[in-house]
Amino acid sequence: MSPLHVTRTLPEDATDAALRADVRDGLTADPKTLPPKWFYDARGSDLFERITELPEYYPTRAEREILVARAGEIAAASGARTLVELGSGSSEKTRHLIDALTSLAAYVPVDVSESALTQAGRALIAERAGLEVHALIADFTAPLALPGTPGPRLVAFLGGTIGNLLPAERAEFLALVRSQLAPGDGLLLGTDLVKDERVLVRAYDDAAGVTAAFNKNVLAVVNRELGADFEPDAFDHVALWDPDREWIEMRLRSRTAQTVKVPALDLAVDFAAGEELRTEVSAKFRRDGVTAELAAAGLELTHWWTDAEDRFALSLSVLR
Ligand code: AVJ
Repeated sequence: MSPLHVTRTLPEDATDAALRADVRDGLTADPKTLPPKWFYDARGSDLFERITELPEYYPTRAEREILVARAGEIAAASGARTLVELGSGSSEKTRHLIDALTSLAAYVPVDVSESALTQAGRALIAERAGLEVHALIADFTAPLALPGTPGPRLVAFLGGTIGNLLPAERAEFLALVRSQLAPGDGLLLGTDLVKDERVLVRAYDDAAGVTAAFNKNVLAVVNRELGADFEPDAFDHVALWDPDREWIEMRLRSRTAQTVKVPALDLAVDFAAGEELRTEVSAKFRRDGVTAELAAAGLELTHWWTDAEDRFALSLSVLR
């Protein structure tokens, strides 16, 4: 029997229904928005991989630095026998953690992309005899049916992706995570930190224009999936820092007055010249805020690790 188990809790047509609802709601709202989850088709995922290699985009390197330096401490503090990874993608950075978790019996990567999950799962099984891999094709913002693998469990949510949720969504997400943990289980959370505005803006507006292409890719996704006629080059990429909410916003600014048709929704959307569509919020954090948000969800922060330049943090919190 293969130790790779794949479970799909995401109905095949759920993505389509969710995209339609998000595009209708977002493009008829004032101001207009689209949720960042729709960036990640094959091209968007590829562009994101390129972003992580840009000189300006420090979060991936900073988080990897922490994982490499602290994997042993994280493993010892959690004692995890099951590692659940939310939004695992290619699981590249997680390998450091998996290698350090010597008592690990099961790895449960959770992602909406089946290909990323099964590829990473097979590679891991080949190298780590006896490790069970239960890949869950699921949307981690919805309740998960976690397999009955041994505890304690460690849920890892890396990459700073929690920053793409709005504050109310974060509270809901953390409460959901907590509801799926037992006493002694933990959450390993990656959070990008507040820092110099110029460093932050450059990370989201790189000189080579890769982030601009990534941002505009969401329009290509809506064109392909819903038959829309967005002209990506009729929009400019905008990245700005909101000092009050301490988040980066990515927007697409319409260069001219234009009307975009979305046939699948029977919708025509007017853009004024200069009108902006918000496509992503990427919140940046401070230790006190992370501690408070975890505490509000019933989780106690026990460890806080940063890279040498204090750009990014990994926190470990436990359910008492
Ligand atoms: C990995 C999803 C957290 O917000 O920094 C990168 C996505 N957006 N460049 C982030 C992203 C623009 C990224 N996350």
